[in-house]
Amino acid sequence: MNEQQRKEASQIKQSNPSDVKNDSESNLERLKQMGSDELIGKYFQTTYEPPNLKKAKKRLKKDVDIHYDFSISEEMQTIGEGKKFLIRTYGCQMNEHDTEVMAGLLTDMGYQTTDDVNQADVILLNTCAIRENAENKVFGEIGHLKPLKLENPDLIIGVCGCMSQEEAVVNRILKKHPFIDMIFGTHNIHRLPSLLKEAMFSKEMVVEVWSKEGDIIENLPKVRKGRIKGWVNIMYGCDKFCTYCIVPYTRGKERSRLPEDVIQEVRHLAAQGYQEVTLLGQNVNAYGKDLEFEYGLGDLMDELRKIDIPRIRFTTSHPRDFDDRLIEVLAKGGNLLDHIHLPVQSGSSDILRVMARRYTRESYLELVRKIREAMPNATLTTDIIVGFPNETDEQFEETMSLVREVGFESAYTFIYSPREGTPAARWEDNIPMEVKKERLQRLNALVNEQAKQAMQQYEGEIVKVLVEGESKKDPDVLSGYTERNKLVNFRASKSLIGKLVDVKITKAKTWSLDGELAKETAEVL
Ligand code: SAH
Ligand code: SF4
Ligand code: F3S
Repeated sequence: MNEQQRKEASQIKQSNPSDVKNDSESNLERLKQMGSDELIGKYFQTTYEPPNLKKAKKRLKKDVDIHYDFSISEEMQTIGEGKKFLIRTYGCQMNEHDTEVMAGLLTDMGYQTTDDVNQADVILLNTCAIRENAENKVFGEIGHLKPLKLENPDLIIGVCGCMSQEEAVVNRILKKHPFIDMIFGTHNIHRLPSLLKEAMFSKEMVVEVWSKEGDIIENLPKVRKGRIKGWVNIMYGCDKFCTYCIVPYTRGKERSRLPEDVIQEVRHLAAQGYQEVTLLGQNVNAYGKDLEFEYGLGDLMDELRKIDIPRIRFTTSHPRDFDDRLIEVLAKGGNLLDHIHLPVQSGSSDILRVMARRYTRESYLELVRKIREAMPNATLTTDIIVGFPNETDEQFEETMSLVREVGFESAYTFIYSPREGTPAARWEDNIPMEVKKERLQRLNALVNEQAKQAMQQYEGEIVKVLVEGESKKDPDVLSGYTERNKLVNFRASKSLIGKLVDVKITKAKTWSLDGELAKETAEVL
């Protein structure tokens, strides 16, 4: 830790609200005040601690073990025979991929999947805590599930994912939704078979949330959602501690998988016929920093590009760790796609500083310049937060001008949402909602305009499309994505699903392109 970081850490430490309530005794006191012995009994089963920046920052680098010997106990291997499961997933790709792991575990226990809540014997809600509205959706869904549980007491309902890592959420479920059978977090997904067993045979709610991140478990089963595109975790957790963000607390510290394990998984997907992989991490550019040898994302990508799979993407990049080695490797092209999602969050250096993003407007623009120099056709997309505490009109205008200057072709835009336990949640959320909404609208109008312009360049061009399936709106239309992640719809035979084909763009819309199979491809077919 350098002097600056130490200073920031100690400033945050002094006023971190969770410092005063982070031991299990005070949790117990609070539950006692609620006056329910039953709740106390249940709470003892947890090992939960609330977000605590001081403790989290002390996380040791090298106390993570990698396990290759996971197995499901014999008695649990058949427990799901004749039964069905349903998992509802909220949040980011990381959660989507965790759902694939949980689906793998349940399948190995004999369960089959269903889309119908009425048919399910096990329902899991894999939750997201990133903003308040994400949490509200989940509480709404919990309410909807209650009648099902009353009708069928054997139904097991579990809440997992990032919300489970928050103390307030666990308490609210314990208190207000006692019909939930189990709560587990993001660090103990591999414990699902044991927790399920406990939930089946216990009358108590089973709550097991680990505040400390777990080890890396390499050989967990997975049932992937598709057979064309696959996700591959390259690292877990986040050590960036942006002041608004709950992720470092819900996902724990940065832990990189070993390069050989990642390479083997990508090779395996290629051998199974997958056409595209997306490497996943909250901050993939920090890949390798925690390994005991010098190795980074650039080195990993340089290995992966030699694998015979047509497309490799990665998400999410943090501007701070985007180094020259990575730019140099990405510029080699081939199966490494030049679409870079590079969240900026704000165009104002002052706001970036209080967000603790650790880059400035100028250094972000310099990074963009370097990327463009090496990859002149690169597509850049981003994430932006509006209405951060104290954000002035001028500072918001700096965000607008940065969006114009970089020419982002799309952006995920959000209204700031205070998250309990994060440093920013202590600051007054002082931008009125109508101002936040107005800023968001203006920003979205600009992003839409730029998206539309970027799409127009494709009219008349031939693009490579990875055909994913029938379009959502019209089953006679196929859809897929270009290398730069533009959605393309066109009419052609369904036999093309899963293939890479050339499509001539006939019409550009704001968020998609219409096209027809390129003449040569059509003739060959
Ligand atoms: N690791 C990624 C982002 C993960 S969260 C990164 O650092 O870029 C996805 C996006 O949610 C963030 O980029 C940010 O724009 C938004 N976000 C995170 N916390 C938020 C909060 N408290 N309020 C509003 N938006 C938030
Ligand atoms: Fe959150 Fe991303 Fe910042 Fe990590 S880098 S704290 S995930 S916004
Ligand atoms: Fe949400 Fe957790 Fe992802 S908070 S955005 S599901 S890491």
